[in-house]
Amino acid sequence: MTANVIRKSLIVGNWKMNKTATEAVDLAQEIVEAVGRQTDVNVVLCPPFTALSSVAKAVEGSNVSLGAQNLYPAKSGAFTGEISPDMLRQLLVTYVILGHSERRTIFKESNAFVNLKVHAALENGLRPILCVGETLEEHDAGRKVEVIQQQLEECLEGITVSKPDSLVIAYEPVWAIGTGKNATPAIAQEVHQMIRLWLVKRFSKDYAARIRIVYGGSLKPDNANELLTQPDVDGGLIGGAALESRSFIKIVESALRLTA
Ligand code: PGA
Repeated sequence: MTANVIRKSLIVGNWKMNKTATEAVDLAQEIVEAVGRQTDVNVVLCPPFTALSSVAKAVEGSNVSLGAQNLYPAKSGAFTGEISPDMLRQLLVTYVILGHSERRTIFKESNAFVNLKVHAALENGLRPILCVGETLEEHDAGRKVEVIQQQLEECLEGITVSKPDSLVIAYEPVWAIGTGKNATPAIAQEVHQMIRLWLVKRFSKDYAARIRIVYGGSLKPDNANELLTQPDVDGGLIGGAALESRSFIKIVESALRLTA
């Protein structure tokens, strides 16, 4: 497989509500030690808010970047329990996961609300990792294209990007998240290609060729190679397998082998 010269592979660890600040530093240090000096794959760690500051110190001076798992789309104010883009920026956060299916289902976030967050992220110099994906029911009913296109349309309404690498799309079929049942490489490629064609129409051919589309949903060392070799799969958003340094490092190494 030849290296993708246009899009640098992106491997993101979504730690969800796991790891205390102390545990997070240990995990981050192990990852930095193993893959923090290479520059062929972008590695991003997204710890919970409470560990951002300590993980920022652990990745300082390395090529590992810091991401957040959410933000609130306002500068400041009476929003108990929420975190603003400014607060994230000050902690050296550069990426932010938005519209994750757990936020959509458990916290009832709509496409319109996710759209406000994407605007807020970009206006504050943060790179959104916008998650889209169909539920099992929608998948079985043959509605995945329709559902994903509607999510893209509504979540990216009014969005312009000054640089194509400032926006990342994550395809995360809801039925694959945390279930151990990943999308087949063929399904992932089919959906990623559909998303890229949508991006051509929405932005431009040049931008669509440069915006990274990563896959998420039970991505593990065992299936990383077959998923990451798909031509429109530009990396991964990893949950369970990102909680242990060995498995996460193996996935980064899979991505690295594809650039050799
Ligand atoms: P998983 O989670 O790798 O545990 O399936 C992926 C995600 O939710 O981002």
